[in-house]
Amino acid sequence: MAAPAGKLMHAVQYESYGGGAAALKHVEVPIPSPKKDEVTLKLEASSINPIDWKIQKGLLRPFLPRTFPYVPVPDVAGEVVEVGSNVDSLKAGDKVVSMLYLRRGGGLAEYAVASASMTVKRPAEVSAAEGAGLPIAGLTALQSLKSAGIRFKVGSENGANILVTAASGGVGLYAVQLAKLGNCHVSATCGARNLELVKNLGADEVLDYKTPGGAALESPSGKKYDAVIHCATRIPWSTFERNLAESGKVIDITPNATAFLTAAIKKITFSKKQLVPLLQSANKEELELLVGLVKEGKLKTVVDSRHPLSQAEAAWAKSIDGHATGKIIVDVGP
Ligand SMILES: NC(=O)c1ccc[n+]([C@@H]2O[C@H](COP(=O)([O-])OP(=O)(O)OC[C@H]3O[C@@H](n4cnc5c(N)ncnc54)[C@H](OP(=O)(O)O)[C@@H]3O)[C@@H](O)[C@H]2O)c1
Repeated sequence: MAAPAGKLMHAVQYESYGGGAAALKHVEVPIPSPKKDEVTLKLEASSINPIDWKIQKGLLRPFLPRTFPYVPVPDVAGEVVEVGSNVDSLKAGDKVVSMLYLRRGGGLAEYAVASASMTVKRPAEVSAAEGAGLPIAGLTALQSLKSAGIRFKVGSENGANILVTAASGGVGLYAVQLAKLGNCHVSATCGARNLELVKNLGADEVLDYKTPGGAALESPSGKKYDAVIHCATRIPWSTFERNLAESGKVIDITPNATAFLTAAIKKITFSKKQLVPLLQSANKEELELLVGLVKEGKLKTVVDSRHPLSQAEAAWAKSIDGHATGKIIVDVGP
């Protein structure tokens, strides 16, 4: 199917910082065309991440968005409809998962332009919604575990004790599953309503973060953590420190100014216990690995809720609310 060049498409955009879900506007804009290293996708599904509404709030200004209006959301799945002149790895008709350029956005629309270097083929076993959940959340989970020293090659002996905080969120649910695939002992924190789910996805011990033991991050079996994949917020270093093994690390995906200061102090004092702020990066091979794991049934995308593009505001508000269990999906196709 070729992209209907020059035609208009439905898109959801915002025109200034702030305003939350109410500031999203439904518009008709021209279908974009690919440059030589890009592909145009007919989108089937997108997924919302907290970074999407944090950008709208202005937390990354002046870097993002560079210009308004801005069609948000980089995480998408769809079908290639047009390829740039330099692209030979993909062709029209390929089903794919892609992470769009954050500076351009584009995922809340019927069509989007993606870099071929961050677009991977999606086998028939991986639905659009399962694929769209992967880019930011899956890559963050994988890269956090790698940063903690976990290896995913066949035969790797890890055996580390890992704690995942906010294990019921988009990143946390992938992190729990990937840590188990990496042969780790996994402890996890989440709310009472998700204890069973997180356990069923492989966690060995699950702590309700609203109980005193959960808030203290204490492993019920008394284990000290070799690494914490920290996806929650507002947990002080002192709470981590008393639960870490001698050379334990906290991989902090939600670092604030205090965390950066603590990380610097731990580094310059050669502390055995370290705090490592992590910013996810685009990596095609890792995205292919994640898609492959979903295909093989080894990794699941847990879907919190699905919303049609015509009700993208509801998906946006759900993410801002902060209580998603897994991924919030926007269905773009018919
Ligand atoms: N550094 C990076 O590159 C990077 C990449 C991706 C995400 N992030 C950040 O990482 C954070 C998590 O992202 P996400 O997509 O997983 O978010 P999310 O899906 O919105 O997480 C929501 C989940 O977190 C749980 N939760 C909230 N506070 C908790 C706590 N104190 N203890 C245990 N569970 C808690 C909630 O459970 P209840 O509903 O039971 O409260 C809910 O299930 C966000 O702040 C995001 O911006 C950073």
